[in-house]
Amino acid sequence: MCGIVGYVGTEQAAPVLLQGLEKLEYRGYDSAGIAVQQNGIFTVKTKGRLADLKQKIKQDILGHVGIGHTRWATHGAPSDINSHPHSSENGRISVVHNGIIENYMELKEFLQQQGKKFVSETDTEIIAQLFDYYYQGDLVDTMIKVIDKIRGAYALGVLCEEHPEEIVAVRKDSPLLVGLGKNENYIASDIPALLEYTRDYYLLEDNEIVLLKKDSVQIFDLHKKEIKKDIFHVDWDVSAAEKDGYDYFMMKEIVEQPESLRKTIFPRIKENTIQLDQIELTAEQVKKINRIHIVACGSAWHASIVGKYVIEKLARIPVEVDLASEFRYRQPILQKDDLCIIVSQSGETADTLAALREAKKHGIRVLSIVNVVGSSIARESDDVIYTWAGPEIAVATTKGYSTQLSVMYLLALYFGSAKELISSQEMMEYIDKLKKVPDDVEKLLEVEERMKALTEQYANTKDVFVIGRGIDYAAALEGSLKLKEISYIHSEAYAAGELKHGTISLVEEGTLVIAIATQQNLFEKLVSNIKEVKARGASVIAIAVEGSESIEKVADEVFYIPKTNELFTASATLVPMQLFAYYIAVQRGCDVDKPRNLAKSVTVE
Ligand code: M6R
Repeated sequence: MCGIVGYVGTEQAAPVLLQGLEKLEYRGYDSAGIAVQQNGIFTVKTKGRLADLKQKIKQDILGHVGIGHTRWATHGAPSDINSHPHSSENGRISVVHNGIIENYMELKEFLQQQGKKFVSETDTEIIAQLFDYYYQGDLVDTMIKVIDKIRGAYALGVLCEEHPEEIVAVRKDSPLLVGLGKNENYIASDIPALLEYTRDYYLLEDNEIVLLKKDSVQIFDLHKKEIKKDIFHVDWDVSAAEKDGYDYFMMKEIVEQPESLRKTIFPRIKENTIQLDQIELTAEQVKKINRIHIVACGSAWHASIVGKYVIEKLARIPVEVDLASEFRYRQPILQKDDLCIIVSQSGETADTLAALREAKKHGIRVLSIVNVVGSSIARESDDVIYTWAGPEIAVATTKGYSTQLSVMYLLALYFGSAKELISSQEMMEYIDKLKKVPDDVEKLLEVEERMKALTEQYANTKDVFVIGRGIDYAAALEGSLKLKEISYIHSEAYAAGELKHGTISLVEEGTLVIAIATQQNLFEKLVSNIKEVKARGASVIAIAVEGSESIEKVADEVFYIPKTNELFTASATLVPMQLFAYYIAVQRGCDVDKPRNLAKSVTVE
C-alpha cells in the first residue's frame, strides 16, 4: 500500500524522489520520508502528507543517490519515528519497505539478543537491522541472506553508507519496477512515479534482486546468478498521471470514462462478433466450462456481481462471486472444468493475488481482467483481458470500475456465442447497444451541474440507502461504496426486496434513499419499495430509464439514463452516483482523491 521510489544518477536525487512520491501518494499518505547519500546517509521524514515533508526540508539535500517512501501505516501508528526510511542502529543502512514482514517479532527478539536497540514500532526497522547484521561488504549477498530470513510481502529499497553509488532492491508479493535511464536508473512501486523520466522498465519477478548503479542495472536470482530481462516499454502520455486542470483526479477520471470505454470495447468488436484475440480460451474450452468463480475485492467485486448477472443470462454458465479475502481461506470447491476470473484494477491487490494462486494450485484455468499492464496478477494468469482505462490515480475507482463492467459484457457475449446461445441477429443487436455504452455514459455526464446543485441539499445527510433489484442492486453496491469512501457518509446498498426484512426500521424523516429502477420487469416492484420508504419520511432520488416518467410520481428527483439493453444499464446508472459522491465530498471539505484511512492499491492482506 505504501509507495517506494529510488534514484541513482547524476542529478540531485531529492527533487526526483519528491516528484516521484507526489505521483505515488495515492498509495498511502499518512507519512513520508527520503534518505539521500551525502557523506553518510541523510534522512528526513515526517508524519503527515508529502507537503509536510517538503515543509520540513529546510536545507538543500545534495546527493545523487536516494530512496523515498510514502506510507500507509500497518505496524505502528503514523508518527515521525514510524515513518520510513528506517535505519540500522549504527546508521549504516537505510531501508524503505512496502508490505508486511510476518515474522518480524521473532526476528526482533533475535536481534535484541544480539544487543540491537530499536526505536520504532514497525516491522521495517528489523530489515535495516538485519541487513546490517548480515552485511559483510557485498549488497547482493546480504540481501540474499536477509530474504532467506524474512517471511511476508515486501518491496525493499536499501542504501548502505559504504556503497554511496548504489541501491539494492528486491520484491516479493509487493510491486516494484526498475526504470531505465541514461546515466541514471530508478526503482518505483508504480509507473506514474517515473513517467516524467523514462518509458523503459524492467518488471521484477518475486525474489529478483536488483543492484542499481547510475550506469548499470544487474538483476540476480537467489543463487546470485545474473538474470537477463526484456525491457518493457510504456507509451503513456505524461498527462495521463496529471490532473490536467481538474481539482481532483477523481473528476478527471469520471470524465475520462467514455474514452476509456471506447478503448476497451471497440477493438474487441469485429464484423459483429466479439473477438478476444489476446486470450487463448477457445470456443471448445468455453463449451466445457462447468462453473465460473469470479474473485475480486471492493469495487472490482461489485463489477463481478454485475458480471454474474450478465454471464448467467447470456451464457447460462453458473457463476459464483467471491470476495478474494474469503475465497483464499474458505477451501472453495474447484473442479477440473471450472474457470476462475480474477478482477483487479491494480493487478497487485494482495488478497486477489493470493486467490489467483489458490485457484492455480487447484489446476484451475485463470483469466484475469486487469488494468495495469505487466502487474503481478496479469503475469500470473493464463489469460488476461486488459481494461484500457489508463492510469487511475484517485483512490476511489471510477473508470477502472466502468471498464471492468464493459469487459464483463464482452466476456458474457463471447461465452454466449461460443456456446451458440446467441444468434447472429441477436448478437448484432447486443453489439449495437454495447457500442453505445460510452455515449450513454457521456450523456449522463451532462447532469453534473444539476447534481452539484442537488448535493448542497444533502451535504449534511447522515444515512443513505441505495436500493435496486437485479443488476440495479449490483450497481447500488458500487454507488454506495463511492459515497462512503470519499464523503464519509454512512451508506448501505440494499436489494430493494430485502429492505423490509429488517433494515427499513432505520428509515426515518430525512433519510436519503437512492433508488435505481432500470430493469423493466422489476420496475413496478421497485416503485412499491419507493412508496414504502416515502411513507416513512425518506427523500428519494431515483435513477430510471428514459420513458419511465411515471416514477416522478413517487420520487423527489429523477435522473434518466438512455434506453439500452437491460444487461448494460449499470454503466450509465453509475455516473450520477459517482457525481453525487464527488460533490457531496467536496461540499463536506473532504480530500476527494485521498480519503482517510485508505490507499489505492491494497498490497497487504
Ligand atoms: O486494484 P483492485 O481493483 O484489485 O482494488 C480492489 C479494491 O481495493 C478497490 O476496488 C477499492 O474498493 C476502491 N478504492 C473502491 O473505490
